[in-house]
Amino acid sequence: MQDYREFIDEVFVDAASIEKRVRELGEQISRDYAGQDLLVVCLLRGGLIFTADLTRWITISHEMDCMSLSSYGKGNYASSGNVRVNLDLMTNIEGRNVLLVEDIVDSGRTLAHVLMMLKTRDPKSVKVCVLLDKKMRREVPANADYVGFDVPDKYVFGYGIDIDEHYRHLPFIATADLSKYKPAG
Ligand code: IMP
Ligand code: MG
Repeated sequence: MQDYREFIDEVFVDAASIEKRVRELGEQISRDYAGQDLLVVCLLRGGLIFTADLTRWITISHEMDCMSLSSYGKGNYASSGNVRVNLDLMTNIEGRNVLLVEDIVDSGRTLAHVLMMLKTRDPKSVKVCVLLDKKMRREVPANADYVGFDVPDKYVFGYGIDIDEHYRHLPFIATADLSKYKPAG
């Protein structure tokens, strides 16, 4: 696998800034759900690292569950909105306050699909917390209630977000110069 230093454009958010913002989001969520039920749902795999850090700043009692979706068709670093459920929730969300935690909203298709699907299960509420929001790329209405950072129309990676399943472990969020990226194989 190619070293990311060969195609990194710039470090967009460094580790200290991520930690500060994640802490703020956790504190905000703790205030907003004070005295209420809360089920945090991590959207795998991109939301994994963000969720792990975020929940440690949520100071009120809450449950956690995970879900894995993948979009198919189209491809090449953009989602199609044809969403398949790879792993469903283990929790019955009827009557629950659900907080979906997602890595990035781009066209909004994935989020719109999962919101529609979860609403058929009669939760009390569903809110969305995204680490990164590419607002100018929206094709369908899908708004997050909590946003870590707005990002420009560039491919990003690190802190849970991958390029071809790699680089999720990086402690910062970087933008990529895809013209310099060579896919393996
Ligand atoms: P949407 O359905 O177009 O909103 O796409 C959302 C999904 O596409 C995210 O959950 C990511 O998995 C993926 N995605 C969108 N932009 C990027 C990016 O810049 N880097 C990595 N993955 C991305
Ligand atoms: Mg994702």
